[in-house]
Amino acid sequence: MENYRAQIPRSAHLLIIVFLSLLLPLCESNQILIKGGTVVNAHHREVADVYIEDGIIAAVQKNIMVGDGVKIIDATGKYVMPGGIDPHTHLAMEFMGTETIDDFFSGQAAALAGGTTMHIDFVIPVNGSLSAGYEAYVKKAERSAMDYGFHMAITKWDETVSREMEVMVKENGINSFKFFMAYKGSLMISDELLLEGFKKCKSLGALAMVHAENGDAVFEGQKRMIELGITGPEGHALSRPPVLEGEATSRAIRLAGFVNTPLYVVHVMSIDAMGEIAKARKSGQKVIGETVVSALVLNDSVLWDSDFQTAAKYVMSPPIRAPGHGKALQGALSTGVLQLVGTDHCTFNSTQKAMGIDDFRKIPNGVNGINIFQSASGQLSVTDFVRVTSTECARIFNIYPRKGAILVGSDADIIILNPNSSFEITANTHHYRTDTNVYEGRGGKGKVEVTIAGGRIVWEKDELNAVPGSGKYVKMAPFNYMFEGLERADAEYLSSLRAPVTRRAMHTT
Ligand SMILES: *[C@@H]1O[C@H](CO)[C@@H](O)[C@H](O)[C@H]1NC(C)=O
Ligand SMILES: *[C@@H]1O[C@H](CO)[C@@H](O)[C@H](O)[C@H]1NC(C)=O
Ligand SMILES: *[C@@H]1O[C@H](CO)[C@@H](O)[C@H](O)[C@H]1NC(C)=O
Ligand SMILES: *[C@@H]1O[C@H](CO)[C@@H](O)[C@H](O)[C@H]1NC(C)=O
Ligand SMILES: [Zn+2]
Repeated sequence: MENYRAQIPRSAHLLIIVFLSLLLPLCESNQILIKGGTVVNAHHREVADVYIEDGIIAAVQKNIMVGDGVKIIDATGKYVMPGGIDPHTHLAMEFMGTETIDDFFSGQAAALAGGTTMHIDFVIPVNGSLSAGYEAYVKKAERSAMDYGFHMAITKWDETVSREMEVMVKENGINSFKFFMAYKGSLMISDELLLEGFKKCKSLGALAMVHAENGDAVFEGQKRMIELGITGPEGHALSRPPVLEGEATSRAIRLAGFVNTPLYVVHVMSIDAMGEIAKARKSGQKVIGETVVSALVLNDSVLWDSDFQTAAKYVMSPPIRAPGHGKALQGALSTGVLQLVGTDHCTFNSTQKAMGIDDFRKIPNGVNGINIFQSASGQLSVTDFVRVTSTECARIFNIYPRKGAILVGSDADIIILNPNSSFEITANTHHYRTDTNVYEGRGGKGKVEVTIAGGRIVWEKDELNAVPGSGKYVKMAPFNYMFEGLERADAEYLSSLRAPVTRRAMHTT
């Protein structure tokens, strides 16, 4: 040790001192007391203090006393809530000949400023290889500034894929797989593959997810629009109407029912899809419906905007629907017909969107949103808001109550929201890499004033302090609550067959 010290030159000593003094404020904030706020969980709210130590919630009760050196935040009159968990993002995804412009760090930084403290991103296999896809995403996520997990897409089927799914679940902490019923010629899979995938998911206790649009019919619809001379962004909406989302949603639900495995429908955009989910849940089938902020608050009129750039930034799939769908989806969310909200954050800047200037089929699909969970609150109560933006996601992906709750022992991922303070969304301050924002100029009451991620204050007084590399990968275990009772249904099915029937041997004379 002496030796080692002696070898360090003088200038380096100075550097070390500077480094240590920079570290000091971080050490102090290891202990935080949030005083006097209304602590909101999905099923309960109460005025209480929240004490955080070493990244974990150590106490939730009234009048907590602490010594010196604890950072104290006054939250009187404000809500203290679990940070948002975004179940649906695409950071640094290679897609449609380009790559989404927000990487893990920039996307997460924006998310933290908006009150989201965890997200689950979709690993896309590399040339169909799950392990290669996983390795690539581990690299992409190295500079993460907040906790994250992975879903994985399944884009082809063979023995290797089947074996690798098992490795992903048992060793890599992935408990959900997504099947694209659209994007013919790239990500789309057949019904045969869907059935194989559902069976495998069931045996592994992994949740099957679907992007539900009939890809063959979308392809037909696109041809129709081009033949009609409709090449602009409005052609995107016109080529893939709600009926195609309803059809695929219904098909996926019925096939999942046939296999008897739970199903998660991502980005429900239309009444058509939502109706299928409502019907299935009513009949007792285990189906989860996720909607996204763009579906709740936007409508398709923007796709007819005479400015290409303006219209193109709203191109996503399934498309943003006509007025009326959003209201219905909001209702479905508040009554529990749909269970949670994501953002499908998948941003391309205006240069990338311009790839489709002559042909809407070449506009990279995707909108921003990772930092605008607040906008979805609409008619929701604060407890329901916590349920759909955090708790339900944690339960579905089997990480509750480590995430999704303000309870003793939970991770200190917390936001402080001031219901009386206003926020406004604009591309000038949104922290994304992209130059546009589909929520430009929108705002409202209810501003996230403080974000604490992993026990560290990362957003306060409109200042962002996202630290690259501080986010952790969250492994998610299989067999969530939806798998309970599945064997009973299987047994009932088998006994209902009343087969094979024992028959006497045929006589031949
Ligand atoms: C917000 O307004 C309500 C009602 O006027 C009040 O009770 C509460 O204390 C206010 N909160 C803050 C942080 O100003
Ligand atoms: C994927 O496969 C194609 C064709 O076999 C090959 O050209 C390409 O290099 C592969 N890509 C990767 C990332 O391995
Ligand atoms: C549809 O969206 C446009 C643009 O955001 C908005 O001006 C209009 O009021 C919306 N229409 C309805 C019926 O909500
Ligand atoms: C969009 O991103 C690309 C790639 O990073 C960059 O070359 C281009 O200048 C960006 N366009 C705008 C308008 O920011
Ligand atoms: Zn998506």
